[in-house]
This record gives sequence, structure tokens and C-alpha cells, in this order.
Amino acid sequence: MSDATSAETFAAPRLRALERSDLAFVHGLFNDPDVMRYWFEPAHTTLADLEDAFDRQRGSDHLRRFILETAGRRVGLVELMYIDHVHRNCEFQIIISPSEQGRGYASAATRGALDFAFRALNLHKVWLLVDTENAAAVHVYEKSGFAVEGVLRQEFFADGAYRDATRMAIFADDYLDPTRT
Ligand SMILES: CC(C)(COP(=O)(O)OP(=O)(O)OC[C@H]1O[C@@H](n2cnc3c(N)ncnc32)[C@H](O)[C@@H]1OP(=O)(O)O)[C@@H](O)C(=O)NCCC(=O)NCCS
Repeated sequence: MSDATSAETFAAPRLRALERSDLAFVHGLFNDPDVMRYWFEPAHTTLADLEDAFDRQRGSDHLRRFILETAGRRVGLVELMYIDHVHRNCEFQIIISPSEQGRGYASAATRGALDFAFRALNLHKVWLLVDTENAAAVHVYEKSGFAVEGVLRQEFFADGAYRDATRMAIFADDYLDPTRT
């Protein structure tokens, strides 16, 4: 095995703060219809709009955006949105680059984001909305400890039809002590 292959195989994926220099990568994701179909948004975002939003949101206490990288390569985007410091909850969102899917990166990124939410931000609850038909995502979330709270019928429109969304959530106590009943 070459050194490069060896480094690639053993480099653990890690989350770090999203930088302005990452926006070209995000632009690619946000203009991919196969990705945005599951983010409940049309695949139509300019780089300038992403830069404006980045500048506006800098320093916000209500949003933490991360890049997942491994071996120096960007492989995904993770966001903790609508961070509420009274109710101590937030929404979780994730995209893994289509060319990097199926390698366990979503599971690693979800763990990293939950660690940050519960161990760094001291949140109480993390919730998400997922297309009910997005079986891979639902599987990753259940494996990570999220439980279904309910189904929102015909909640969003994508790929020519109204879609149901499943709301899932996980609580700090259950995440930090999985043996708790
Ligand atoms: C959903 C998404 C985040 C998954 O990322 P990923 O890196 O491919 O996920 P992982 O490799 O960590 O794990 C995928 C898991 O789903 C399983 N899986 C894949 N397809 C599946 C399916 N059709 N049904 C059930 N499970 C499935 C895999 O076997 C794997 O399970 P395992 O870890 O127990 O072996 C990625 O496909 C993505 O970004 N999609 C586009 C945007 C999106 O849907 N975001 C989520 C919005 S809520």
C-alpha cells in the first residue's frame, strides 16, 4: 500500500468551521438537483448569494456551519441551524458530496455535529426534517440515535410532487448516556 493510499484509508473525517474559501464547494452542492431535492430547495444558488449570506451570518449565535473533510479533501457540509438559547434546541442538516457517499461519512459527520451540539453548545435537543422517502438518511439518523417525532404530510414540493417529511429528534441525556432507559 502506498503512503498516499495508507493516509487516505486511515485519515479520520473531521468537522471544522466553514470558511469563506469553502463557498465554491458549497456552490457545487447547492446547484446539484439530486442533492437539493432532499434539502427541500430548488438547485439554483449563485456564488454571490452564498458570499452575501456568509458575510451576514458571520458571528451569529444562531448558526454553526461545518465542512467535513478527510485527508485534506472536502467531503460534506453540516449545519446546526436556528440555534435557540432559550429552548436550547436546533435543527440539524447535512449533505455528503455525491462522489463521496456510501463511505460512512454521514454517520461520522452526524456524530461530530451531535458532539458539538451537546458537549460544546450545551443544547438539550437536536431535531431535523427528512424526506420520508430518503431511506439512507433516515437509516443514518436512527443509527445515530434520532427517533421519529411525527410525519408532516405533503410538507414540501420537490421533483414535481408534494412530499411528506418526517421530523426526528435526539435529546442530550440520551446521546450522552445511551444506557439510560
Ligand atoms: C443521506 C446522505 C447524507 C448519506 O450520506 P452517506 O455518507 O452516503 O451515508 P453513510 O455512508 O454514512 O451511511 C449510509 C447508510 O445508509 C444505508 N443505506 C444506503 N441506502 C439505503 C437505503 N436505500 N435504505 C436503507 N439504508 C440505506 C447504508 O447501508 C449505510 O448504512 P450503514 O452505515 O449502517 O452501513 C447523503 O446521501 C446525502 O447527502 N444525500 C443528499 C442530501 C440529503 O439527503 N441530505 C439529508 C437531508 S435530511
